[in-house]
Amino acid sequence: MERHNTAISMATLLFAFSSCVLAAPDNQRQAQLQHLLDQDCGACHGLYLTGGLGPPLTHEALAGKSRDSLIATVTLGRPGSAMPGWAALLAPDDIRWLVDRLLQGKPAP
Ligand code: HEC
Repeated sequence: MERHNTAISMATLLFAFSSCVLAAPDNQRQAQLQHLLDQDCGACHGLYLTGGLGPPLTHEALAGKSRDSLIATVTLGRPGSAMPGWAALLAPDDIRWLVDRLLQGKPAP
């Protein structure tokens, strides 16, 4: 009986752990994030992210910038500038996905 319970709680732990680590946005969430990137981020950074009120976020423009600092910028915003923080609207995994998407380069339309 004792062993049986241990096995169950191990399985539960493992499940909780893997759902934490593997919480990348699913396909539907990715589509929503892509829409946000075009509409909301695009409102300031340009529809093709080539710059507007905000600086360009193209693959070339971001080359050499640290992923962590870009994640921090999107999460917290840049105080004193128009760049808002997105922590209230987006999960950390969403923000990581967006930054990786930007670093990979948004495909031309
Ligand atoms: C209201 C306008 C506005 C919106 C909306 C906006 N940004 Fe920004 N963003 C800015 C401005 C302005 C800066 C430059 C801040 C500065 O002067 O350092 C910036 C900077 C950035 C940077 C840093 C670029 C660099 O070269 O270091 C990233 C990354 C970024 N924004 C991503 C996003 C993403 C992703 C979104 C949508 C989720 C978004 N922004 C929405 C205005 C905006």
